[in-house]
This record gives sequence, C-alpha cells and structure tokens, in this order.
Amino acid sequence: MTRLFRPLAAVACAALLSTPALAADIPHLATQGTTKQLIVDGKPFLILGGELANSTASSLDYLNTKWPTLKSVGLNTVIAPVEWDQVEPQPGKYDFTVLDGMIKQARQNDVKLVLLWFGAWKNSMSTYVPAWVKRDYATYSRAQDDKGQPQDILSPFDPDTLAADAGAFSAVMAHLKQVDTAHTVVMIQVENEIGMLPVVRDYSPQAQAAWNGPVPADLIAYLKAHRETLDPYVRTLWEANGLKDSGTWPEVFGPSIQAQEVFQAWYFASFANGLAKAGKAQYPLPMYVNAALIRPGKAPGQYPSAGPLPHLFDVWKPAAPDIDILAIDMYFPNFMEWADKFKRPDNPFFIPEANQAGKPEAGANAFYAIGQLDSISFSPFSIDNIKPENSANLTGAYDVLKQLSPQILAAQGTGRMRGYRPRVSFDGVVDETPQSFILGGYRFTVSFVDPWTPKDKQDIASNGGLIIQTGDDSFIVAGKGVVVTFEDAEAARQAVGIEQIVEGRYVDGVWKPGRWLNGDESHQGRHLKINADGFGIQQLKLYKFR
Ligand code: DGJ
Repeated sequence: MTRLFRPLAAVACAALLSTPALAADIPHLATQGTTKQLIVDGKPFLILGGELANSTASSLDYLNTKWPTLKSVGLNTVIAPVEWDQVEPQPGKYDFTVLDGMIKQARQNDVKLVLLWFGAWKNSMSTYVPAWVKRDYATYSRAQDDKGQPQDILSPFDPDTLAADAGAFSAVMAHLKQVDTAHTVVMIQVENEIGMLPVVRDYSPQAQAAWNGPVPADLIAYLKAHRETLDPYVRTLWEANGLKDSGTWPEVFGPSIQAQEVFQAWYFASFANGLAKAGKAQYPLPMYVNAALIRPGKAPGQYPSAGPLPHLFDVWKPAAPDIDILAIDMYFPNFMEWADKFKRPDNPFFIPEANQAGKPEAGANAFYAIGQLDSISFSPFSIDNIKPENSANLTGAYDVLKQLSPQILAAQGTGRMRGYRPRVSFDGVVDETPQSFILGGYRFTVSFVDPWTPKDKQDIASNGGLIIQTGDDSFIVAGKGVVVTFEDAEAARQAVGIEQIVEGRYVDGVWKPGRWLNGDESHQGRHLKINADGFGIQQLKLYKFR
C-alpha cells in the first residue's frame, strides 16, 4: 500500500520556519504551498469576521452598543471603516479619537480589526473626504463625464489629491505603528470599491492628457512577460491593435469602451498603489483593495468601471505591486462562479464583504471560500445588524470553522483540503448535481440533497462543507446537508469500506468524540452524512478491500 501522507504538523512548521524573523513581528502574509496566509504574532490566522455597516464605527457610543451582537456571532475579527474626514478635519491636523476608541473596544472584546481606509473613494464616490477637500475643487479636481460635467468624484489624475489622501493615510499608518504594538489591527483595505460611474472613465483635462500620452512601459513589459496567461479582455485589445510596445493609449489598445476601461484601471490602480506604498513606508501591514462585481449585461460605466475586477487583474497587478490582494465583495447568488475568478497564483483569496449578514447561504459560502480557495477570511457585510432569528447559519458555520482552524490553516495550500457547496446561478437556480473530486487516493462524491428529508423542506443552496485529509485513509469532514460517498481513485480500483465514522467536537484543540455512526446514520456503511439542520464535524477513516 502507498503511504504518501506527509503529517500536517511538519508542513505547518516548515511554513513557520521559512518566515523571515523581521516580518514575523508585524502581521504579514507568508507563503504556504500554493497560497498565502495571514500571519499574526508568528502564527497563521483565519479571519472569521464581519464587516460593520458603513456608519457604525463613526460614533464610539454607537459602536459600543453593538458588541453583544458582534460577540453572539462568534467572530474573531471586525472589519471597520476609518474615515478621512474624521481623521483629518483640518489640513495636517489629525484626530485619532475614533480610531483609538475603536481599537480599545476591539481589545476589550478580544477581536482583531481589519481597517477600511475610506479616503478619496467609497463606492466610486468621494463622500468621505474632508470638507476642506470637497470645497477646494480648484486644488483637488473632480472627475468629469464625457460632456465635461464635474462629478462628486475626485479625479485619480490629480497629483494634489494623491498627495493629500496619501498624507492622511500615512498618518494613520504611522499612528497605528505607535499605538498598536499588540497587533489588534491585522490588515488594511485601501479605499472602497474603486470604480468609475456613470461613464467608463474620467474625461477631465488631466485625464484627456494622460489618454493621449504614452502607455507606461511597466504595463507593456508586464503584457509581454505574461502574454500566454493574460486575460482575454486585455490580450484581445492589445493583439487587435498590433501588439505595439509603445504608443498612446488609443494607439496601443484602440478607442473602444473596453480600452478606455483598461486606461482608467491603470490610473485607479496607480493611485491606490501610491497610497499603499506611502502607508507601508510607515507601517507595512498587508493591504488589499475590494471590487464591486458586474451585473449581467452591464457595460463599463453602468457597473463601477475599472475597479480591481478579474478581467482587469492584468492591469491592476503591474500598476499596484504594493497592493497584496485584489479582493471580492460578493452580493450575488453565483458565489462559486465569481469567487473562482478571484483566486489566482498571484492573488490570494480574501473576502471582506460576503452578502448582507443573515443570508442563509453564508455558511456554505464560508466553507467553500476557506476550504476550496484557501481564503484568508470570510466576512458578511452589516454584521452589526444581524438579527438573532437569522444568525444561526453563520454562527453554526463559524463555530465549526473555529474548531477546525488549526487543521484548516495547516492544510491550506497543500492540496489536502477541498471545499464544496452547490453551484447557484445569478438568478438563484440551484444546481443539485453531486460534485466529485480526488483526495488522498479516494474519489469523493458529495451530494447536497438529504435523501431522508423531503426536498421542499430543505434549503439546498445553504448546504456545503469541506474535507481535510489528516492521514493515510483519515479525513475530517465538516459542513451541513451533505452526503458523501467514496471510491478507490487508484489504478487497483479496490472496494472501499468505512472503518469508522465518529462525530464530535474540538474543545480547545482536543478532539472530543461523540456518537459512533455505524448504523442508519451512515446507511450501514454506505456513506457519510451530515444533516441539513446544522453544521457538524465527523472523523472518517476509510479502507480498501477485495
Ligand atoms: C458595498 C460597499 O462596499 C459597502 O460599503 C456597502 O455600501 C454595501 N455595498 C451596501 O450593500
């Protein structure tokens, strides 16, 4: 019999040993196998989080009322805005009262923070900038539409705006370095859902000059170096216009709306990178930007154009090397379709906003993101407004994911873990087709329909889970509403039997076995089943025979 299994502890230790000593002090990203993980105080950290509604953290008294709700969900991280207008009410005069108060409350409640820098842009618009920036439109110029109408959007082409935004952001990061030696703040989001509306790009005079100026050499060099793997959106524009290695934007990419989106993306990304670079020079926490997704049939400018979307990753990556992750905000039902696109070898998966809190698919999405895409985080939006009557799904999922965090973190990036949930279309049609994959010499098939519960009583879209190989023939299966069967995936094609299935819990990292499931619960040895009424964990040991 082949014995290929490499113990999880050995892999985890190898990852830790390879972490540079200096970086180990500050929360940072480190490579494990095919992925990157967030390392906090020397250990990988899985964010089981939630993002606050936009205005909750702008008042410390208001935020203080929300902790019972936040704690009830079982999260370990709160994702919360820091507003430029509150931080820098007068040019160069900083006020960190709200930030410091938020850090204090987070510590009192034993959670980490991911901070969202609401600077020049929040959902395309510029509503969080200080009054002195809003009113001084001669200095901090506005983006214009194609008819020359100024928008309530700062232009990314204005160096004064970048200098002002980066100045405030740097001050925040310098302050964090001073006050947060306990590492309560573990990551930073730069701006929020950057993108251009209601037209594809900025048409201000500065933007027009850039459009008729040269395509930066860094972009051309990237296109050449990555030609085989470029997203077709960018590659087609470049190829159709003659694969030029210099020229103006319309010369290199053509005049189409798609070419204009590529142009705008480069300058948004360059602006965001200017911020990240300036902030990291003070205190180099991991930094990401987040993307608003595209509704079917919408053109650039109908959706927030030029944001960090998968079809523009090949523009954002070379323009923004100081941004560690291009992250997904997911509000559509077709979670898998979009999520898969954000996971690339050069882009670890991070999700700051996963639908409104309280949606029943949250748990299944969390398992898929973390189990299949090695996600660093899961985090529903408006978590502070979750209602007790619809929080059970998320709370149950977080309870299990928290128990399994050591095993999950050891398995991420090693190929020993899979996540699954039913595929759902944008219109909400659930694909009940069982899903198969090979792990540890076995072919597993996962069905999401509980054969003993009437179909109309099941919310199949909310079922899902993950499986981790923990040794030769040994697996942890977790989730809800899944029925798992097994075959031999190796050439010998032997029969496969269940040596043992035991349900249980990890308490302080120690497995506490519960019932042994030899009878009806495993259909007398035919399958493993976790009921649809709640998230659970089962230890599975298989064997092969003739
Ligand atoms: C996405 C944004 O990033 C959030 O700040 C918030 O505005 C939500 N949309 C509201 O659904």
